Amino acid sequence: MILPKRLYVKTYGCQMNVYDSARMAEVLAPLGFAPTSEPETADMVVLNTCHIREKAAEKVYSELGRLARLKRARAEEGRRLTIAVAGCVAQAEGEEVLRRAPAVDIVLGPQTYHRLPELVARIVRSTGGSIDTDFPAESKFDHLPEETLTNVDGRGVSSFLTVQEGCDRFCTFCVVPYTRGAESSRPVASIEAEARRLVALGAREITLLGQNVNAYHGLEESGEVCSLAGLLRRLAPIAGLWRLRYTTSHPLDLADDLIEAHRALPALMPFLHLPVQSGSDRVLAAMNRRHGADDYRSLIERLRAARPDIALSSDFIVGYPGESEKDFEATLGLVQAVGFAQAYSFKFSSRPGTPAAALPGQVPDAVKAERLARLQAVLNAQMLAFNSALQGRRMAVLFERAGRRPGQLVGRTPYGQWAHVAAPNDLIGTLAEVEIVDAALNSLRGRLVVPKTVARFAEVGA
Ligand code: SAH
Ligand code: SF4
Ligand code: F3S
Repeated sequence: MILPKRLYVKTYGCQMNVYDSARMAEVLAPLGFAPTSEPETADMVVLNTCHIREKAAEKVYSELGRLARLKRARAEEGRRLTIAVAGCVAQAEGEEVLRRAPAVDIVLGPQTYHRLPELVARIVRSTGGSIDTDFPAESKFDHLPEETLTNVDGRGVSSFLTVQEGCDRFCTFCVVPYTRGAESSRPVASIEAEARRLVALGAREITLLGQNVNAYHGLEESGEVCSLAGLLRRLAPIAGLWRLRYTTSHPLDLADDLIEAHRALPALMPFLHLPVQSGSDRVLAAMNRRHGADDYRSLIERLRAARPDIALSSDFIVGYPGESEKDFEATLGLVQAVGFAQAYSFKFSSRPGTPAAALPGQVPDAVKAERLARLQAVLNAQMLAFNSALQGRRMAVLFERAGRRPGQLVGRTPYGQWAHVAAPNDLIGTLAEVEIVDAALNSLRGRLVVPKTVARFAEVGA
């Protein structure tokens, strides 16, 4: 008999980890594990980790300290707590995880989570730690149950779907090519089948995920190679799938047919996260980004020509080794020239094993902090200006879930911001026409235009 057990999954890092966490919960469900949001009550904890910056990795070790204490307290009660470390820290420093945190039972890399049930079974049989950070020949996508849960992050009205993994770009600062391995794309048919399954379970928006998603080049049934634009065209006609997004893209892989897809596909939302990292050609070259600031600017022009209302988002790194004040000012200049609706910015973090870690000219932390503050002031002003400009406008909001306040739902606008709206619960999973009445840096407030009638997608468009 399978006894009910509780599983707590904590996710760090990018959306691909959110997707992976949902899939890990799914592969453990047949073993009797049901998700819980409280680690204190869990029989098994999975930390799905991120190695992108030092802070992200260190957070995991402090969480493991807390879990080790919980595990000891449990043992005194004669109960077991199984601790698994998954994701990119596991991949990058698996042995060190077991050395620094002996309470850990399982270490598994991002490509092996389909083997989790087997690893858990092994733990139950023995007491030793288990490690699996292979890049196996069989794909994890081929070993997952068909049933999906809709009550975990990344699975619901708005769902994630990983279509591409790994990265061959080797930006000098980045661990992803080492933690996620070489770039690989899932076949079109398996993605389409998963998209249809998600829609049948209630998804109305799907975000296609990949570390470098626009490098997607999966095989069609005919054996032909399909681009990301081709994949979007395949998915767009699925009945009940109203919205498509994709993330994250590299500017060099933004092909003409993808720009064209932004013009041609109404389901493709007018928002694009296209990280540029820096506005200095010298720094971009040192980062091995293989394009200049002007190339980025002209891409943006072409995107705006195809879809005039497209909202843009980017990632930035300040204080890359050798970055001068003049280089940094070039970044500020690029930001001013483009105008971003959303942005994430970070101090350069030296990652062991990456080429940038060993470079001379490391920038002192105080300088990084000062540049980050200046950059964020400009970006925040742009984000607020973008949101404020939407006040008084009507747009389609896809309601995802109940808000914190009673009687309130939260949903996303076409441009990706959260909108908080007084609306009845039965509007969850529907698109409604909303007038934006108030704007803050990270969210909007709106009111239903037609409170009783659900506006259909075709009527309100995006
Ligand atoms: N695949 C995506 C993003 C990968 S990581 C891309 O190519 O853009 C997400 C962001 O983290 C990056 O865009 C970058 O801005 C930041 N990042 C990655 N490595 C970093 C490092 N060593 N220090 C600081 N920020 C980093
Ligand atoms: Fe990392 Fe993105 Fe560069 Fe790939 S393209 S190495 S994931 S920053
Ligand atoms: Fe972090 Fe790995 Fe994603 S390093 S950003 S979790 S690919």
